[in-house]
Amino acid sequence: MPIKNVCLLGANGTVGPAVLDALVKDGFTVTVLRRASSKSPSDYPSGVKTAEVDDAFKVEDLVPIFKGQDAVVVTIKGTQVDIQKRLADAAVQAGVRRFIPADFGSVDSSSEHAQECVPLFKHKTELRSYLTKLAEESKEDFTWSSVVCGHFFDWDPAFLHVWPKEKRAEIVKNLKASYSTLAQVGRATSRILQRPEVTANRVLFVQSFCVTQLDIVQAFGRASDAEYEINWLDDESYERQQMIKRDEGDKEALENLVWLLGAVEGNWEMRDDFAMERLGLEDESLDEAAKAVVKKHS
Ligand SMILES: NC(=O)c1ccc[n+]([C@@H]2O[C@H](COP(=O)([O-])OP(=O)(O)OC[C@H]3O[C@@H](n4cnc5c(N)ncnc54)[C@H](OP(=O)(O)O)[C@@H]3O)[C@@H](O)[C@H]2O)c1
Repeated sequence: MPIKNVCLLGANGTVGPAVLDALVKDGFTVTVLRRASSKSPSDYPSGVKTAEVDDAFKVEDLVPIFKGQDAVVVTIKGTQVDIQKRLADAAVQAGVRRFIPADFGSVDSSSEHAQECVPLFKHKTELRSYLTKLAEESKEDFTWSSVVCGHFFDWDPAFLHVWPKEKRAEIVKNLKASYSTLAQVGRATSRILQRPEVTANRVLFVQSFCVTQLDIVQAFGRASDAEYEINWLDDESYERQQMIKRDEGDKEALENLVWLLGAVEGNWEMRDDFAMERLGLEDESLDEAAKAVVKKHS
């Protein structure tokens, strides 16, 4: 049976609006789930329903909301594992058939190196194991899918260590890696739900393009009609420095480690689970994506 009714938690975050947009465009009936204390605007596209849940996200409160939903998609922070476990438990009890957790990783969270560097990836792996167990126990009534997309390309260029206003950038390792625009992440999520048979209980690796950091800086240069000053860093000593700062409680060091990991272990084209074909998705233009970012951030 096709998936029709989709409940989305996190519609007001970074990637949530792109997921909502794709689901609506693809004709799903979407219910946005909001926590009671939410101060976010609720000006969703017409036809989108809303449901409210107490901030405690109790399973017994969630089950009636999830009844009649075919899928639940979560785009809150990946560290919010306990909430997501309760959402998944409620989904099982309500007969929801597909659960997409807040993965959307810059890297594959099952990487031991990534887990050593950044605790977030341990949390995402813990949740993946939990969902796998639920799916095994439910004998295929309940299934899950995770999207791993590489760095969000058009979120904040500083996250990519490119500063369009200052025409400068940092490069830590000039290997090819996968990056996705937020729109592509939304499309991938929607395609998973359009193709439930071929996407069940697996991680789907997607991208907008697979390029080096130098390719990215040069694309920003073309989009800005200027040459960017590049600070070339050594990946091994950079990782050591950032790990020390991380241990001192520096949150920015965690972000820097995520940036490094995406650059050194983020090439999905080499993966067996590279899912562009499975999802009927195509690469996008790096130049067009860079132009859009420069327009927004210059
Ligand atoms: N690949 C990448 O480059 C990349 C970059 C960033 C994020 N991500 C991943 O994308 C996924 C979504 O992250 P995001 O940055 O889009 O999320 P986000 O912006 O941090 O999420 C905010 C959403 O979560 C809701 N929210 C906030 N606090 C909450 C709480 N205590 N309980 C329940 N809901 C809460 C907010 O709604 P209200 O405040 O209205 O309640 C809002 O809808 C995560 O898995 C993250 O790791 C990937």
